Amino acid sequence: MHHSKITGLGFYVPEEVVTNADLSRMMDTTDEWIIERTGIKERRFFKEGEDTVSEMGKRAAEIAMQRAGKKAADIDMVVFATLSPDYNFPGCGVLVQAKLGLGHIPCIDVRQQCGGFIYALSVADQFIKTGFARTILVIGSEVQSNVMEISDRGRNMAVIFGDGAGACIVESHDEPGKGILSTHLHADGSFATDLSLQHPGSRLKNRVTHEMIDNGDLLPTMNGKMVFAHAVKYFPEVIREALHANNYEDKDLDLLIPHQANARITAAVQKEFNLPDSKVVSNIHKYGNTTAASIPIALTEAWQDGRVKDGDLICLAAFGSGFVWASALIRW
Ligand code: COA
Repeated sequence: MHHSKITGLGFYVPEEVVTNADLSRMMDTTDEWIIERTGIKERRFFKEGEDTVSEMGKRAAEIAMQRAGKKAADIDMVVFATLSPDYNFPGCGVLVQAKLGLGHIPCIDVRQQCGGFIYALSVADQFIKTGFARTILVIGSEVQSNVMEISDRGRNMAVIFGDGAGACIVESHDEPGKGILSTHLHADGSFATDLSLQHPGSRLKNRVTHEMIDNGDLLPTMNGKMVFAHAVKYFPEVIREALHANNYEDKDLDLLIPHQANARITAAVQKEFNLPDSKVVSNIHKYGNTTAASIPIALTEAWQDGRVKDGDLICLAAFGSGFVWASALIRW
């Protein structure tokens, strides 16, 4: 049986920084409210014509490939996680394949929202374990700023989300106990509408009407309290599931990289595991919640900052729309 490991990391965020003060000029909100409820100070907004989801994914991928010492011809497969693809179809995997000149390799798009990157990593891990592929490009990329309404009506969600991309190279190796030790994936579709964007959808004869636009039906909706309650339950559960599956305990964890949903959710998880700040990665104050991009951005930054060291036991964990929740345990 083959094993997989991450051998290159990269991220890209758009240049435009949007602070809480900027938002408070466009809607009824304040810096204090946003910081207290979410921990976010600023986020990035994409530039039209420059930073599409596939383009940002490509830029992050180029950095990851260069750091892993990989050329286009070395990549066997693309797994692309996003809830905000450039087109309704086809997905962003094929767009990145063409942009990077990867040849006629398979491309899979994963639509698991905030759990997207870990689901994508798990897909890559399975394809490597079976020997189907040796080197896989995994990307998480999102543009959220243009689906939110920057207005009083959209304020409960608009202040939380941001744009950006992260990527990694996952490679086959034959050293047991190193690299991705296991991944754990869960979902509960009975909460599907508690964090969702339901229009335009195929279930209606007229996918888009003027009435929908006027009603704000084209905006995402979130039951914030429901999301919060489930996130603080399932983050610890799925982290412990990963630790126990590999015969580890809470105290063995060297670094926790949670999906950057909300600083209060991260703080609750940190408290549950009694972890010092040095063992938990949090960069939500700079980028907001970038959904499928948040874990690869946080992992890349942590690695760049020297916080990811050889031999470390690292847990990635996520919770989000679906609801989905997931974890990956890595021996670096
Ligand atoms: N600025 C100022 N006030 C705002 C606001 C904003 N951006 N958004 C909402 N409010 C107001 C509401 O209108 C409400 O006012 P009211 O009391 O007059 O009705 C008040 O703030 C409280 O709103 P509520 O929705 O009850 O707040 P909350 O304490 O539940 O906090 C969240 C809202 C979204 C911050 C919180 O529910 C949360 O963190 N949920 C998890 C969200 C998350 O992590 N999502 C990502 C999942 S991957």
